[in-house]
Amino acid sequence: MEAAEAKALRLARSSPSAAPCPPVNSGVLIFFAVLVAGALVSAGWMSTSARLQVTPITRVASPTTRAHNAAAAPEPVPGSPRFTGVAASTNQTPSAAESLAPPPREATAVVPAAPAPAEEGATPRECPAYFRWIHEDLRPWRGTGVTRGAVEGARRRYAPKFRVTVVAGRLYVARYGRCFQTRDVFTQWGILQLLRRYPGRVPDLDLVFDCQDLPVVDRRRQDQPPPLFRYCGSEATLDIAFPDWSFWGWPELNIKPWEALRREINEGNAVVNWTDRAPYAYWKGNPKVGAERPFLLWCNVSGKRDWNARVYAQDWGKEVRYGFRDSDLSKQCTHRYKIYVEGRGWSVSEKYILGCDSVALMVRPRFHDFFSRGLSPLRHYWPVRGGRGMCRSIQFAVDWGNAHADKAQEIGGNASRFVQEELTMDRVYDYMLHLLTEYARLLRYEPAVPRGAAEVTVESMTRGRPGLEREFMMDTVEDGASGRGPCRLPPPFSPQELEALRRARADVVRQVEAWEKN
Ligand SMILES: *[C@@H]1O[C@H](CO)[C@@H](O)[C@H](O)[C@H]1NC(C)=O
Ligand SMILES: *[C@@H]1O[C@H](CO)[C@@H](O)[C@H](O)[C@H]1NC(C)=O
Ligand SMILES: *[C@@H]1O[C@H](CO)[C@@H](O)[C@H](O)[C@H]1NC(C)=O
Repeated sequence: MEAAEAKALRLARSSPSAAPCPPVNSGVLIFFAVLVAGALVSAGWMSTSARLQVTPITRVASPTTRAHNAAAAPEPVPGSPRFTGVAASTNQTPSAAESLAPPPREATAVVPAAPAPAEEGATPRECPAYFRWIHEDLRPWRGTGVTRGAVEGARRRYAPKFRVTVVAGRLYVARYGRCFQTRDVFTQWGILQLLRRYPGRVPDLDLVFDCQDLPVVDRRRQDQPPPLFRYCGSEATLDIAFPDWSFWGWPELNIKPWEALRREINEGNAVVNWTDRAPYAYWKGNPKVGAERPFLLWCNVSGKRDWNARVYAQDWGKEVRYGFRDSDLSKQCTHRYKIYVEGRGWSVSEKYILGCDSVALMVRPRFHDFFSRGLSPLRHYWPVRGGRGMCRSIQFAVDWGNAHADKAQEIGGNASRFVQEELTMDRVYDYMLHLLTEYARLLRYEPAVPRGAAEVTVESMTRGRPGLEREFMMDTVEDGASGRGPCRLPPPFSPQELEALRRARADVVRQVEAWEKN
């Protein structure tokens, strides 16, 4: 064992009150608590994807690739997105007051569909590989397109909570039901900021959105599936994954907008290096939600057994009483390993766990959010068994990592780099832009403002908004002067690439299981 490791171990063991790990800033604890708590959470991914494996194959321009690239050209062919009289944007930076005002009413120009590079002469750089899943998520409608009947069918069948319509660069929302806390508010705010950030580039569109945790559109259904947007998807379903509200902040939990928090986590990450962190796997949250969490409780250290896991149940009542005021996500990088286990669906906590240089021990996820399919086992995280094998699996992972500190740090570092470079707000907006543009391309009808919808503007959203909600909105308001164009959408996977990805991922997981057994 390395000297530093031994020191960390000693440190950990000598901490007061027989606590097997050093006292952790309580804010940190709260944090997960929160995230994972109750109905709020979900988390996931799917057993596919991986940049690593994709790379060699991407160079082959498959017929689909060429077709796609051709389709990206701006000529007004049927199937290209519609832009009705979009107000042209100005390029100067508006004053704070101006930036809150709605864009000018009069339609002045029709802007071509294709996201064009904004920087002179430069070809925009390609988006991260996880953007390729946009094509997969929309594949069910490739051949048939999306009809008004399909969108309205989704409303009847799945009772989504709201409908988003963009006409001529303006956002209209029809509310069909209530969402938990301010999920819907911050989701709509995010779409509104997208329109402000890329004026003239978001085509006319019409979609229905659900804000509950679990994906519902069964992949096995025989008829044409209706398109339904939500925060996560799964292998078994066809729901379209869209960035969740927390990227613009989660005021009820005092979780800041992602861009600021991402920077703070990056700074917090530098405070204690990996070697000096407690050499255990840490988790805190609500153990009562999700299928796997009860199993995780069995892995906690006890007088009899040490599975290398330090598991804490959230005192939800207390967190609520204290308003999560002490939560400090940027000080949570205290253990070498952090366990990620889904709640009801995907979990918002995922990006915070991955951003820490700690090795994420991922209990086999069933759900994916929009970016998690870009992560690969042993490259960005360590795969852990679910169910009864979980404790042994965690114990093995931690022992392995402590014995292979360089490798473990590389995995942790790769995950942090992914979060810090491929999951910036620039990329989140680009993902939304490309997803919505590709979706709009599939529409077989001209979107019109539906009955019951109202226009949503910065003013309408901020009017009368209390404290933190308003503050988070002010912190994330876009002014359309970002100057940089979106990244370039990579082509779809070929069936062979998809198959290779799935196989590679399964192989790695099997490999780890074999290591555990021997
Ligand atoms: C981690 O930090 C400690 C001091 O806090 C230092 O002794 C050690 O060399 C550092 N390790 C690495 C790998 O940077
Ligand atoms: C896990 O064990 C630690 C240390 O004994 C304890 O403080 C903690 O409360 C336990 N967690 C749960 C969920 O019981
Ligand atoms: C970490 O990322 C680098 C660069 O993307 C890659 O070459 C390396 O193999 C990754 N490390 C692991 C452990 O997969």
